[in-house]
Amino acid sequence: MSYSEEPLVVVPPSPEPRPVRESQSEYFEVCLPNDANLLGNMLGGHVMHLVDLCGAIAGIRHARCMVVTASVDQMTFLHPVRVGELVRLKSQVNRVFRTSMEVGVKVWVENLQSGAMRHTSSAYLTFVGLDKAGNKVILPQVVPETGEEKRRFEEAAERRAYRLVFKDKTRLAANQQDPRP
Ligand SMILES: CC(C)(COP(=O)(O)OP(=O)(O)OC[C@H]1O[C@@H](n2cnc3c(N)ncnc32)[C@H](O)[C@@H]1OP(=O)(O)O)[C@@H](O)C(=O)NCCC(=O)NCCS
Repeated sequence: MSYSEEPLVVVPPSPEPRPVRESQSEYFEVCLPNDANLLGNMLGGHVMHLVDLCGAIAGIRHARCMVVTASVDQMTFLHPVRVGELVRLKSQVNRVFRTSMEVGVKVWVENLQSGAMRHTSSAYLTFVGLDKAGNKVILPQVVPETGEEKRRFEEAAERRAYRLVFKDKTRLAANQQDPRP
């Protein structure tokens, strides 16, 4: 579906704006051996999967339609998640553009025995709203209310500018490449 010659159709109209708080979401998972490497640490790809899920929940809560992940900004893993520990994720919509929105996700790891909690990752994802036919949807605007939400809202515009430059470069490179592996 991505990067096709034919752009997806955009469906108006956008409903009423909604506060950031209505999109705020949480997701929890215990790290099990199946999701860990040989050292007993959760696989980075699994953490990314959880980030995508928790981000999508916030995006869907805001948009009240299906969403697809258009991009994920760079991610850093500060601490390992050990088998038996709890991964806690929090997400919210930072800013809506037109058919896309930036969602921020924060990840903590909690040691259930000691209660110690460490912030291990943060990520910004861009989701695009789609209707049931797969057409892009103009999303309701999001209203930041707290000082923190307003700061994230402002900063999201700068991150978007950077992302769109990167997207254009990626599309250009994809169009120039021989599609065969
Ligand atoms: C993401 C997708 C819907 C974009 O569709 P498109 O018709 O090429 O989109 P456009 O260029 O019109 O972009 C639509 C919106 O997404 C934004 N966008 C697209 N690619 C982006 C990127 N890499 N980073 C940030 N924003 C992006 C555009 O800026 C635009 O936002 P706006 O309407 O708020 O201004 C399409 O490429 C797609 O379906 N990709 C696959 C998604 C998917 O399956 N994800 C799961 C992993 S494979």
